[in-house]
Amino acid sequence: MRPMGHALIFDSGVGGLSVAAEIRAHLPHLQMTYAADDIFRPYGEKSEAQLKARLPGLLWQLTETAQPDIVVIACNTASTTALTEIRAALDVPVIGVVPAIKPAAALSRTKTIAVLGTPGTVQRRYVDDLINDFADGCRVILQGSVNLVDIAEKKLSGETVDIGWIKTELAPMFSGRHGADIDAVVLACTHFPLLKDELKASVTQSVQWIDSGEAIAKRTEDVMRGLVLKPARKGPDVALLVGPDTTPARIRTFKDFGFERVVALM
Ligand code: DGL
Repeated sequence: MRPMGHALIFDSGVGGLSVAAEIRAHLPHLQMTYAADDIFRPYGEKSEAQLKARLPGLLWQLTETAQPDIVVIACNTASTTALTEIRAALDVPVIGVVPAIKPAAALSRTKTIAVLGTPGTVQRRYVDDLINDFADGCRVILQGSVNLVDIAEKKLSGETVDIGWIKTELAPMFSGRHGADIDAVVLACTHFPLLKDELKASVTQSVQWIDSGEAIAKRTEDVMRGLVLKPARKGPDVALLVGPDTTPARIRTFKDFGFERVVALM
């Protein structure tokens, strides 16, 4: 029997929906509240100090509001920057995203992988440590892009994505030295799996695109199995948007991902 319970899924915007979809597939009975910190996006351009100052308090407020059994930080930038601080502020278990460097390194035949994240994530010590621990013997190319976050937001707000925009973002990675050897790309931002079709269409060489969504879903399932759950709450899954980014197309997107009510927290 799969656990029921209630999870709060958090990101700066729609990126965490790529994780929420995986969690829903693994835990169909789980109630989910989604929270998007629209007003402070993009996180990838914020300093470590800014994120450490904002995230513990915001997550505490959201947790008080939603009363979940577990919190999933479905954001690489937040996880690689402020997971310790967020955990210290909350009294429920907190799961973070770990960029999928280990599986990418194991899978690469050319032993040349790229880590495509936000500019913040690819600079973090956390990512250096993962590379040292799990990508020994691999060449690792780090590529930060904040525009891809915006492009994913546009796509999920109903705008058409121009493949030329994606090619421009990927060009430094693939046309740089050793770019032709890259055979695995770690999608180290949860917005990027939402662009997987466009990413695939924009490169000619054979590349595997690896994200952490399924691994987080499995981790969430494991952690939830060990919890004494709060009494079940009835009601729809809700998306809480911190800010006024509530165009009809964007609200539709949250509904399509199963969040039947969308509430703007101003
Ligand atoms: N989706 C986020 C991540 O995984 C953050 C994107 C941003 O706000 O820059 O890093």
